[in-house]
Amino acid sequence: MNILLLGGSGFIGTCLAERLYKDGHDVHVPTRRYERARHLLMLPTATVEEADVHDEHRLELLMDGKDAVINLVGILKGGEGSPYGRGFAWAHVELPKKIVRAAQRAGVRRLLHMSALGADARAPSGYLRSKAAGEAAAFAVPPPIAVTVFRPSVVFGRGDSFLALFARLQKLFPIVPLACPRARFQPVWVEDVAAAFTASLARQESWGRSYELCGPHRYTLRQLVAYAGRVSGHPRLVIGLPDAVARLQAMAMEFIPGAPLTRDNLRSMQVPNICEDGCTLPFGLTATPLEAVAPTYLAPPA
Ligand SMILES: NC(=O)c1ccc[n+]([C@@H]2O[C@H](COP(=O)([O-])OP(=O)(O)OC[C@H]3O[C@@H](n4cnc5c(N)ncnc54)[C@H](OP(=O)(O)O)[C@@H]3O)[C@@H](O)[C@H]2O)c1
Repeated sequence: MNILLLGGSGFIGTCLAERLYKDGHDVHVPTRRYERARHLLMLPTATVEEADVHDEHRLELLMDGKDAVINLVGILKGGEGSPYGRGFAWAHVELPKKIVRAAQRAGVRRLLHMSALGADARAPSGYLRSKAAGEAAAFAVPPPIAVTVFRPSVVFGRGDSFLALFARLQKLFPIVPLACPRARFQPVWVEDVAAAFTASLARQESWGRSYELCGPHRYTLRQLVAYAGRVSGHPRLVIGLPDAVARLQAMAMEFIPGAPLTRDNLRSMQVPNICEDGCTLPFGLTATPLEAVAPTYLAPPA
C-alpha cells in the first residue's frame, strides 16, 4: 500500500514506519520540521516532506494516490480550557476533521486513527476529552472510507518518554517526589502497537471499530518509577505527593518550556489507564511484558 503517515516522525510513528516498510508498504511522512523526520530516510521506501498538515489543501495533495492514511498526531500539553485547551482542539479535534474532509476529496479508502485509552467526552482531562472528540470526528467519515481507531495505554519501548524519563530523573536526583503514585497503567510495547496498526490494514473486520491496546500486566505509577530506577541502576526513594502539593508542582512546571507535567496530565491520571479484563491486543497478537523489553534500553551498559 501507499500510505500517508501523519505524526510519523515521533516515538510511535518511527516504529510504525519501520514496520510498514518491512511489510512492503511505501510510507510518506509529512513533518513540521524536516530534521525531526530525517532518521526515517534510512528506510528505502520512506519519503519525508516538510508540510503544514493543518492546511487542508496541502493535506489533500499529500493524500493524492494514497491507499491509506494513518493519523498519529498528538500532544500531551494543550493548555487549559473547556472542554479542552486550544492546543488540544487544534491537534486532536480540528486536524481529524480536516483529515476526513481531505480523505473524501482525495478518494482515500482507509483511515487508521490514534486515540488514547480512557478517551471520553466526560473524562476529567482536556487531553482525554479532546481525544474523544477526535475519535468522533474520525468515525463521522462516510463510506466508502473505512476507519479503525486505536486506544493504547501508556506506550513503552526504546525512545519512550515515560520509563526513560523516570530512569533519567533517578540518575540525576537522590529522591523522586511523585504525583499520583497510585495512578494505574497497563503499559503496551511500541512494537505491539505498530503490529496492531499494520494487522488492521488488511482486516475488514476492523472497519468501523476501535481497539484498546494494553500490555499483559497492570502497575501503579509508583511501581513503574521504582522499576525504572532499579533496572537503570539508580534505585531512589520515591515519595508520593499529596494531591494539593502535586497540583502546585504541576502549576509551577507549566511555566517551564517542555514541562514534564501539567495539571491536565494529573487529571488524566485520575482515570485508571487499564484495559477491560482479559483484553490486551486484537487480531490474535500476544502482548509483550514490560520486563522482557525495558532492560534492553534502560539498563546501564555492561
Ligand atoms: N506515547 C504514549 O504513551 C501514547 C499513549 C496513548 C496514546 N498516544 C498517542 O499516540 C500518538 C503518537 O504518540 P507519540 O508518543 O509517538 O508522540 P510524539 O513522539 O510526541 O510524536 C508526535 C507526532 O505528532 C506530530 N505533531 C505534534 N503536534 C503536532 C501539531 N500541532 N501539528 C502537526 N503535527 C504534530 C509530530 O510531528 P512533527 O514534530 O514531525 O511535525 C510527531 O510526529 C499521539 O496521538 C498520542 O496521543 C501515545
